[in-house]
Amino acid sequence: MTQTLTITRPDDWHLHFRDGDILGETVPATARVFGRAIVMPNLTPPVTSVALANDYRDRILKAVPAGVDFQPLMTLYLTDNTTAGDIAAAAASETVFACKLYPAGATTNSDNGVTDPTGIYPVLEAMQEHDVPLLVHGEVTSADIDIFDREKAFIDRYLADIRTRFPALRIVFEHITTADAADFVLAHDSHTGATITPQHLMMNRNDLLVGGIRPHNYCLPVLKRREHQQKLRQVAVSGDPRFFLGTDSAPHAQGKKETACGCAGCYSARAALPLYATFFEEMDALDKLEGFTSFHGADFYRLPRHTDTVTLARETMTIEQQVMAGGEAFVPWMAGETIPWRLA
Ligand code: DOR
Ligand code: ZN
Repeated sequence: MTQTLTITRPDDWHLHFRDGDILGETVPATARVFGRAIVMPNLTPPVTSVALANDYRDRILKAVPAGVDFQPLMTLYLTDNTTAGDIAAAAASETVFACKLYPAGATTNSDNGVTDPTGIYPVLEAMQEHDVPLLVHGEVTSADIDIFDREKAFIDRYLADIRTRFPALRIVFEHITTADAADFVLAHDSHTGATITPQHLMMNRNDLLVGGIRPHNYCLPVLKRREHQQKLRQVAVSGDPRFFLGTDSAPHAQGKKETACGCAGCYSARAALPLYATFFEEMDALDKLEGFTSFHGADFYRLPRHTDTVTLARETMTIEQQVMAGGEAFVPWMAGETIPWRLA
C-alpha cells in the first residue's frame, strides 16, 4: 500500500476567505497547501470593481505566512449594474481572473446578485470578447421551484441558452451537485468546466437530515440524493479535464450554523487535500487525484501548472472539533472525524 503520495502542488478553484481578522485563519489554512485560489467576491459589500478586488487582494496577501508563495486570483461579483467597461477593466488587470454570477438571493451575500441572467447578456458578450471566465452559482431562486430542483432548473432556464449564445465564453459551473449538471458539462466542449466540493463527493442529503439536522453539512447548493452523489463521484475520478477541485470552503461562526436559521457553508480548508485523497482512495482512483487537484483547473484557466509538489502521508488525522479565528469559534466540516491521510 502506498505510504506517501507526492503530487504537483494543487490549487483551489473556488474558495471563500471572508474578510477582516478571520483572514488570519483562512489564508494560512489554504496557502500552506494550495499555490493559488480563486477567491469568491461575496463580501459585504461585494467585490464589484477592480479597485475593490485589489484592496481585498492586498488584505489577503498580508495574511500569507512568511516564506509561503501563494497567489490569490481575484473575481468580480456581477450585479445588474455591471458594465462592459467593468469587464474590459477586469481583463486589463493582472489581478482579476474571472467574474461570478450569483442569481440574486441564491446564497450567502447574494442580495446584490443578478436578478435576471438574461439581462446581463451584453456583459457576457464582453466577457466572451475579453476571454474572462464566467463562474456560475447555478441555482434559480424562484419560490415555486423546490430547493432540490434548483440546479436543474437553472440549466434549463438560463445556462443552456448562455452556453449556446456565447460558445467561446469559458464557463465554470461551480460546486455542481446533480447528475444533470455533470451531464451538462459532459455534453459540451472544453469551454465548460465544473468544480466539485469534498462535501458533494463524500455526502448526500441523508448526511444532512437522517438522525437529526446536521447544520455543519448544510451548504448551497444543498446536498442532493445519493444517485446524484454517485454521478459526481464517477466524473470526479474519471480523469476528464473538465472537472476540477474547488473546495467552496466557506466559514460561518459556530453560532451562525447552530441556530434556528443556520447559514449555508462548510469550512473545509484545513483538511481539504487529505479529504479529497480519502475520497479518491475510496474510489480506488488515487492515480487520478493529481489531475483533479493540480492540472485540470490550471489548464482550464490557462495558467501554468506548479513545478513544486506537496506530500500526503498515510497517517490518520482527526479533524479539529473547533477552530478559533478572529475571537470566534468555527466548527470545521467533518469535525471529530478521523481520515486516513494527512499532510506530510
Ligand atoms: O454553502 C455556501 N456557502 N454556498 C455558497 O454558494 C456560498 C457560501 C458562503 O459564502 O457562505
Ligand atoms: Zn462558494
